[in-house]
Amino acid sequence: MLAYEIKPPQILLDLHFDKVLVSTYMCHREVVQQLESELKIPSHKIDISLVTARSTARHTFLENFAKVAKERNLAGDVAECGVYRGEFARLINMHFPSKKFYLFDTFESFAAKDMEREIPEVQSFLHVFTNTSVELVLSKMPHAQNCIVRKGWFPQTAKGLEDERFCFVSLDTDLYDPILAGLEFFYPRLVSGGVILVDDYFDPLFQGVLQAVNTFASKNHVSFVPIGDSASIALTKG
Ligand SMILES: C[S@@+](CC[C@H](N)C(=O)[O-])C[C@H]1O[C@@H](n2cnc3c(N)ncnc32)[C@H](O)[C@@H]1O
Repeated sequence: MLAYEIKPPQILLDLHFDKVLVSTYMCHREVVQQLESELKIPSHKIDISLVTARSTARHTFLENFAKVAKERNLAGDVAECGVYRGEFARLINMHFPSKKFYLFDTFESFAAKDMEREIPEVQSFLHVFTNTSVELVLSKMPHAQNCIVRKGWFPQTAKGLEDERFCFVSLDTDLYDPILAGLEFFYPRLVSGGVILVDDYFDPLFQGVLQAVNTFASKNHVSFVPIGDSASIALTKG
């Protein structure tokens, strides 16, 4: 097994280098901001091409689907379950400027009870998504007036929303239990022509995502397709 030494970004100040290759998709926009503003690394020396292939496909899918939803006048709200620091949520809010937008997250990382059936490598992520807050997320939203934050453990935080309908939902909670709970809650409430996007289906680490989607899809005879970002699948409703 390969082992990489992890060093803080500040060591870049003492190094001579041609380029910094950003290799983490998660929050790569914030990584670039930190490199530029805190470490004063010029933008031509920062290379994000390793991560943009994935994010560009995902963003284009969202943008194109928002156009389709508008042309077809699809009813229903939009939602993201698994918001973290709101990077994808910002784009959902931007592309659906007149839709009510529900944001579900603990804003305190994963719940221990959701980790029980996960593999040890995933269990070690228990506290990784703690550096966020509702205020931080809302400050990024171009149409914050449309946002309804449901802070806490999903699916408990969906209580009271049983009569809502959705045209676009992003499920990005990484684990079997909340992904399955998300599909069970949102799919029956998806309007005809609506989409549920599930991240990490093709990530070999988060096997629970693939298992939850496959379990839900075969039980309910629902089909889904890859969206071309090497990570996500989309379920739709006829
Ligand atoms: C991969 S991050 C989401 C990344 C985000 N969509 C983005 O684009 O940057 C996963 C998030 O799911 C949240 N999460 C996982 N299980 C949850 C549950 N049962 N209830 C609420 N939030 C949950 C975590 O707190 C974490 O913030």
